[in-house]
Amino acid sequence: MCGIIGYVGHEQVAPILLQGLRRMEYRGYDSAGVAICSAQKGLQVKKTKGRIQALSDLIHGGSDLEGTVGIGHTRWATHGEPSNVNAHPHVSESGKFALVHNGIIENYMEIKEALQKKGVQFTSDTDSEVVAQLLEYFYQESGNMLEAVSRVLGRIQGSYGLAILCEEDPDTMITARKDSPLILGYGDGFNFVASDVTAMIQYTRDISYMEDGEIAVLTRDGIQVYNSLLEPVEKQHSYVDWEISAAEKGGYPHFMLKEIMEQPEAFRKAVFPRIKDGRVVLEDLHITPEYIRNIQKIDIIACGSSYHVGMVGKYNLERLLRKSVEVVLASEFRYCDPLVDEHTLVIVISQSGETLDTMAAMREAKRLGARTLSIVNVVGSSIAKESDDVLYTWAGPEIAVATTKAYSTQLAVLDLVGLYFADLLGTIEAEEYCAIVEEMLCLPAKMEEVLKKTEDVQYFASRYFNHASVFFIGRNLDYALGLEGSLKLKEISYIHSEAYASGELKHGTISLIEPGTLVVALGTYAPLFDKAMSNVVEVKARGAEVLALTTDSFREKMEKTADSVLCIPDTHRMLQPSLGVLPLQLFSYYVALQRGCDIDKPRNLAKSVTVE
Ligand code: F6R
Repeated sequence: MCGIIGYVGHEQVAPILLQGLRRMEYRGYDSAGVAICSAQKGLQVKKTKGRIQALSDLIHGGSDLEGTVGIGHTRWATHGEPSNVNAHPHVSESGKFALVHNGIIENYMEIKEALQKKGVQFTSDTDSEVVAQLLEYFYQESGNMLEAVSRVLGRIQGSYGLAILCEEDPDTMITARKDSPLILGYGDGFNFVASDVTAMIQYTRDISYMEDGEIAVLTRDGIQVYNSLLEPVEKQHSYVDWEISAAEKGGYPHFMLKEIMEQPEAFRKAVFPRIKDGRVVLEDLHITPEYIRNIQKIDIIACGSSYHVGMVGKYNLERLLRKSVEVVLASEFRYCDPLVDEHTLVIVISQSGETLDTMAAMREAKRLGARTLSIVNVVGSSIAKESDDVLYTWAGPEIAVATTKAYSTQLAVLDLVGLYFADLLGTIEAEEYCAIVEEMLCLPAKMEEVLKKTEDVQYFASRYFNHASVFFIGRNLDYALGLEGSLKLKEISYIHSEAYASGELKHGTISLIEPGTLVVALGTYAPLFDKAMSNVVEVKARGAEVLALTTDSFREKMEKTADSVLCIPDTHRMLQPSLGVLPLQLFSYYVALQRGCDIDKPRNLAKSVTVE
């Protein structure tokens, strides 16, 4: 939520900021702004409601602004509606300070009231503005920017990634972080800070991750990082090794389509290095075999699509390990007084590694004594760093707000965890183990097969895109898959959609089925295919239009009843969702395309949800 960027260097900064913001626009896109500082012109602030393009138009691609030190922001509104005044950067009363903020200042009201009593005039409804005003207040006392920032941080509560400019020190930028990602980028004669590495990768691959409580002072000559006591900190540098093309559309009309098509390769990267001589090898795990043997219960914690991966995982892991597996929404886990102790393994799933609810739930689990294993895409993210073990999904940058390749790789890694644990616990027959591993190695080719034939999906999308409401039904793994299919459809096409366990329909929801209602019936889980068919018959009898998804082996049977059928290749039943999700993603994509939706940036959403 919200992307921030800062640059101190020798080049004109406005175009650099605009480009960086464009790359981070997926983090929020309801308003944008920049502040640029120069000794000659002082602080120049330009901001507007709307997308980065609106900002670019406002400043004529950057040519209106002069200076080589600047900060920028793309916003997903929390406090204060999207508007020109609520857009960042926020400026202190005298105009001396400008800052951009990602996060939420929880005690902003109290600070705002205290400052207002002292006569400070506020211009926006945001929580962020109090930081700028408080900064100026403390600066008036000491005249020292670093000290003033440190005092402000001691006073504010909540989460923040901050980048701050002061007119009186136009060659310096100060940044600070707590519970909101900030990455420092090191260059020759220039330095960067940003919420996401994609914003700076064109200029530098030499980066370090700021930790909670740290403050960094950026100049052209270097970056000095301090801890909360203002003691200097030596940062460990990392090298970004993926190509910039990974963060570009590469000829596709949308990032979502590109990322859908990247899934076979992403799956290979996540899985193949972890299978050696027919065995799953998770070298990155520190968890001991003894701990695994003593696990009494597994909790999977996540939000949104990552939660849906957990739903698939519940079915697969329980079957493989014969241990109880619960999947809990992170936002619920935290406040439900969870039954977790040192014999609980908590698996945390997150693409961004920054989702606040997931992180808070993970911290709660750790506090209660559980061991945590995270499955994360973004390297160096907070959840990855704070969990006891991390397995990266190696899907590369995912830019479209609706997740696709992250979902697939999370699923793959969770399946690997299941196999690895089952092998260790002796809860899987050797023959089945080998069959699943072998099938995993065949999956990318089967995925490619599905992705090569998109005509059927496109045709059905053009046939059904006008429906007002859709029901996804399925049993067992198909139910879990339906949850994801339904979320994908509603979030990018704005069609009302719900997923039900087929067996539950007759307990209420079936009353909503009337002639013409579109039901997406999932019949890919072989052991329950016949039961799935009975449910198709049930909804057909009430006049539903049925679009079915099944496997090659069941095609004929399904075609006898359903109105339309999409087919995927057969694989081991446990892996079927890895193939099943592909046509569902494509269906959502093409429906949204037909409806003229903004596919990569659906309304009201942002990619990385760092608010509760
Ligand atoms: C849906 C989607 C979201 C995320 C959710 C969790 O397409 O992308 O539902 O899955 O916000 O995000 P992460 O995985 O980053 O914790």
